[in-house]
Amino acid sequence: MTTRPTILVTRKLPPAVEARASREFNAILNPDDRLIGADLAKRAEGCEGLLICSSEKITPELVKALPASVRAIATFSVGFEHIDLEACRARGIRVSHTPEVLNEAVADIAMLLLLGASRRASEGERMVRAGQWKGWYTTMLLGPQIGGKVLGIVGMGRIGRALARRARAFGMEIHYHNRSRLAAEQEEGASYHATAESLLEASPFLSLHCPSTPESRNFLNAERIARLPDGAVVVNTARGDIVDDEALIAALKSGKLFAAGLDVFAGEPNIHPGYAKLDNVFLLPHLGSATVETRDAMGFCALDNLAAMLGGRPAPNPLV
Ligand code: DGY
Repeated sequence: MTTRPTILVTRKLPPAVEARASREFNAILNPDDRLIGADLAKRAEGCEGLLICSSEKITPELVKALPASVRAIATFSVGFEHIDLEACRARGIRVSHTPEVLNEAVADIAMLLLLGASRRASEGERMVRAGQWKGWYTTMLLGPQIGGKVLGIVGMGRIGRALARRARAFGMEIHYHNRSRLAAEQEEGASYHATAESLLEASPFLSLHCPSTPESRNFLNAERIARLPDGAVVVNTARGDIVDDEALIAALKSGKLFAAGLDVFAGEPNIHPGYAKLDNVFLLPHLGSATVETRDAMGFCALDNLAAMLGGRPAPNPLV
């Protein structure tokens, strides 16, 4: 009988994923979902693999402290800015993530934010719930129509392209900026801008889809916001730290921007307190991939990666 590898699962996972983890591995689960902080290395004692989420910061110090038994880390996320890949590589720890399976769900949330911010959905919802809706009138809660306008997409990867497909169905014209121009079949008629600045100037609606890297941090700063057309709407489903919160809040207050729709925040869940005071920001608590199907798929993808890495095979979605 072959022994199943021991893995530490740092967060509570969807039931179907935990059931499979327990069938295929000697899985140490976290049924109470208590955040494992500094004692992650201690909890990993005797484990060969870790199944983590973006809440666990895999710093060089932590990698050094991990027991020698740990050979693989699978993150239940497409983003991997919480993992020091160099430190893992140096220790011979293999690392994987979960791309592709969440493209459609995140693009749905980007579309929801685009519509919700433009059409003032949270203001309307609050008004109705508070019993402050006094009746219909022709100028109540007006917002810009998205159809017939340009949607600028920063980062035309898998999720950016999934959003572009949705936005086209709403009559939007797609422009994008990316490190490199896409092939015509991936562009599907979208207009390429070689610089982010040129894209911003053309974009009354803007959606951010670039990963968090040292280069993209604070990408949307005051200078770049100034390049957007007056009254633009900004959406972020990528990572909070690619936006300069102070600059975005100032632009929402001054009316430079009509509205923003945000699903991700620097320092989440402790978001900049300025956002909660603004009516013209549509806020969600990092729901991008939060569908039953997608979260199961992310979990199964992470388990496939772990099984491959611990079995000495190439991981389907390797980072290291
Ligand atoms: C991802 O997969 O990166 C999501 O944002 C969850 O962290």
